[in-house]
Amino acid sequence: MANEPAVGIHDLSFATTEFVLPHTVLAEHNGTDIGKYHHGIGQWSMSVAAADEDIVTMGAAAAAPLVRRHGSDGIRTILFATESSIDQAKSAGIYVHSLLGLDSATRVVELKQACYGATAALQFAVGLVRRDPGQRVLVIASDVSKYELDSPGEATQGAAAVALLVGADPALVRVEEPSGVFTADVMDFWRPNYREAALVDGQESIGAYLLAVQGSWKDYTEQGGRTLDEFAAFCYHQPFTKMAYKAHRHLLNYCGHGVDEDRVSRDLGPTTAYNSVIGNSYTASVYLALAALLDQRDDLDDRPVGFLSYGSGSVAEFFAGTVAPGYRDHLRTTAHRDAIDRRKPVDYVRYRALHEHSFPTDGGDHPTLADTTGPFRLAALRGHKRIYETR
Ligand code: CAA
Repeated sequence: MANEPAVGIHDLSFATTEFVLPHTVLAEHNGTDIGKYHHGIGQWSMSVAAADEDIVTMGAAAAAPLVRRHGSDGIRTILFATESSIDQAKSAGIYVHSLLGLDSATRVVELKQACYGATAALQFAVGLVRRDPGQRVLVIASDVSKYELDSPGEATQGAAAVALLVGADPALVRVEEPSGVFTADVMDFWRPNYREAALVDGQESIGAYLLAVQGSWKDYTEQGGRTLDEFAAFCYHQPFTKMAYKAHRHLLNYCGHGVDEDRVSRDLGPTTAYNSVIGNSYTASVYLALAALLDQRDDLDDRPVGFLSYGSGSVAEFFAGTVAPGYRDHLRTTAHRDAIDRRKPVDYVRYRALHEHSFPTDGGDHPTLADTTGPFRLAALRGHKRIYETR
């Protein structure tokens, strides 16, 4: 609508874990040629959560800088997207709301649709702000990606949270209409309530992702979207960074373009920098790709970026966002690099112990080791309640 203000991402901040496992360590343990990890799937290291970290501590650490910079006035909604939920009933966002000391006049809800949930949250946030441009919505995408030890998915694990402040006249990205959407009932990746690690059919999941790329693009064009050549870059969901390359080549082919590898690298290269060292952060992944893009490219003023969000099961959405002029003045590039560089490497034995860590389910008092040096920690599980602390 001509007189409506632009709505979109006003600020973006991410957080990741205390620990990191280099893929060289995993390769040495399982005898895999490191070329498979570095070049075959495009992963160099994975973030590993400490026993006193989870989706809440990461989500709060990602969101706190947004609240510090902009205050909390006008934030009446928190949308927390995750597929590694910690409670079947209570939204993880309520803990974040409490840790950040936000006003009680706030609605808080958790959303789930595998790795797609954050994009649903972003679109819902845009709708809320369009209804009342004076409001701002805090969208938090936070996940710990966990597969069985010694399974093919293990090398793609990771963990991170991205917080987005959505509002009118955004300083970073104006979210455009239309969106192309796609749903298909497939069992490519899922996690029954009784399991900590996801189940996955790897090759089926790659096929399902590619089908969703073409399905959401087809709907996007039918809704009157932009042409492929208009985009300055593409942010894909990155379960592993080479998946973005597979998806983009597939889209180019589907659109009848030849696959020019220089073009593919130009379109995607900068978007993979954070995912390649953090690993799969599920719902956060496509917005980590955006963070890496904005932090590295300085030529995006007023240029459209394509977003392809995929969540197994499956739902996908293709939409465009135009980068706001002057975006570089609002970035958090140094903090983002620090979040990655501050992680402490763990050896295989420590990684395995952290992977296998879980709380007893007896309702007793179970304090955690004080491992993380981040601003928030999960101090204990006490009487079936998660106890968080602020440093
Ligand atoms: N040097 C260089 N490359 C090598 C190599 C070497 N020594 N050895 C193997 N490779 C290459 C292979 O050729 C292959 O490349 P292509 O895909 O381009 O052919 C690549 O490394 C991977 O090899 P494999 O297919 O043999 O690997 P795998 O069987 O161990 O499994 C996987 C790969 C299926 C992605 C597995 O990691 C997995 O199950 N991951 C979890 C599921 C997943 O991420 N699915 C993605 C879509 S679903 C989604 O997006 C939602 C989500 O977040 C989970």
